[in-house]
Amino acid sequence: MTIQKERVGIIGSGNWGSAVAKIIGENVQKHPETFEYPVRQWVFEEDYKGQPLTKVINESHENPKYLPGIRLPNNVQAEPDLIKTCEDCTMLVFVLPHQFVRGVCDDLQGKVNPSVKAISLIKGLEIKPDQVTLFSQEIGRRLHLTHPVAALSGANIADEVAKERFCESTIGCTSAQAGELFHRLFATPYFRINVIGDPVGVELCGALKNVVAVAAGISDGLGYGDNTKAALIRIGLMEMRKFAKSFFGGVEDVTFFESCGVADLITTCAGGRNRRVAEAFAKTGKPIDVLEKEMLNGQKLQGTLTAMEVHQFLTHHQMTKAFPLFDAVYRVIYEKAPLDTIVRNL
Ligand SMILES: NC(=O)c1ccc[n+]([C@@H]2O[C@H](COP(=O)([O-])OP(=O)(O)OC[C@H]3O[C@@H](n4cnc5c(N)ncnc54)[C@H](O)[C@@H]3O)[C@@H](O)[C@H]2O)c1
Repeated sequence: MTIQKERVGIIGSGNWGSAVAKIIGENVQKHPETFEYPVRQWVFEEDYKGQPLTKVINESHENPKYLPGIRLPNNVQAEPDLIKTCEDCTMLVFVLPHQFVRGVCDDLQGKVNPSVKAISLIKGLEIKPDQVTLFSQEIGRRLHLTHPVAALSGANIADEVAKERFCESTIGCTSAQAGELFHRLFATPYFRINVIGDPVGVELCGALKNVVAVAAGISDGLGYGDNTKAALIRIGLMEMRKFAKSFFGGVEDVTFFESCGVADLITTCAGGRNRRVAEAFAKTGKPIDVLEKEMLNGQKLQGTLTAMEVHQFLTHHQMTKAFPLFDAVYRVIYEKAPLDTIVRNL
């Protein structure tokens, strides 16, 4: 009897997409009994120093635009055609900035085998005043997938992972069989994976931590020190948990003790762009959009946006008072509340 091997496709090729392509390419080679050798990676085609980026990646085995200096395994093939990338794939890894998810799913509709095992590495949520949408669920719904989409999230700064510095990550997956396959695809001695059965909690942690990071940055800007920041991290973690458990069924307490929970929160509140820009906001008083232009090359800050969306959602549910830290972040950023509001009403 021949056992069908898994064919893996990666959708996305930015900083994180490239770091995980290195891991996946290597793991696929380590487990030839489970995976087919080639790994196709969809690369949004762009010009790199006068050449198509896919050509540069395939010739140099490096993505010099998004992960310079890191060699990608030979079996990772950069592919500009999204549909071709996913052709015949039995496992798909979604790792792209969240604003591109809908467009990609629209292009893929009807082109992906509905029984594909998919995992989302995307950090972010789509929050409307009356509804929170997880990207894993959005991907599953739009592509009519028969298995629930898993989620991977953790304290994982791409450059550090690519340099093989030890860290942990969490995979949330409701199927034990698929969870085992994803573990084989991602786990290395330096990238330790714990698989849990709570994909919703994993994904919510990855998005909500950015609001807490804004609070941590404001605290740093005020020069409040480490005790205050630790308190904000703890209170923030409690609000993340309360939000997840209030609005989603099945989210488990233990998820918040995983890498996707407390560890990612610590990393984000220690470094990270949300903390950094919020610190500058507190120190200079410049509007966030000006700081975004000055500090982030025009990229949007996730934490402030999520704070506004969470606020609208909580207002709709008349629950802002139950989340004093989330509320304070919103009021300081969007309503010009005094900076020390961040600690005053907790
Ligand atoms: N970078 C990290 O350290 C890190 C760590 C963990 C999770 N994440 C999450 O992983 C996801 C992907 O992040 P990243 O760091 O790989 O990406 P990135 O921020 O480096 O984004 C650039 C990517 O977007 C692509 N792109 C640009 N325009 C596009 C378009 N019109 N359509 C489709 N794609 C387009 C680019 O080709 C490139 O692949 C995000 O949700 C992020 O929050 C990132």
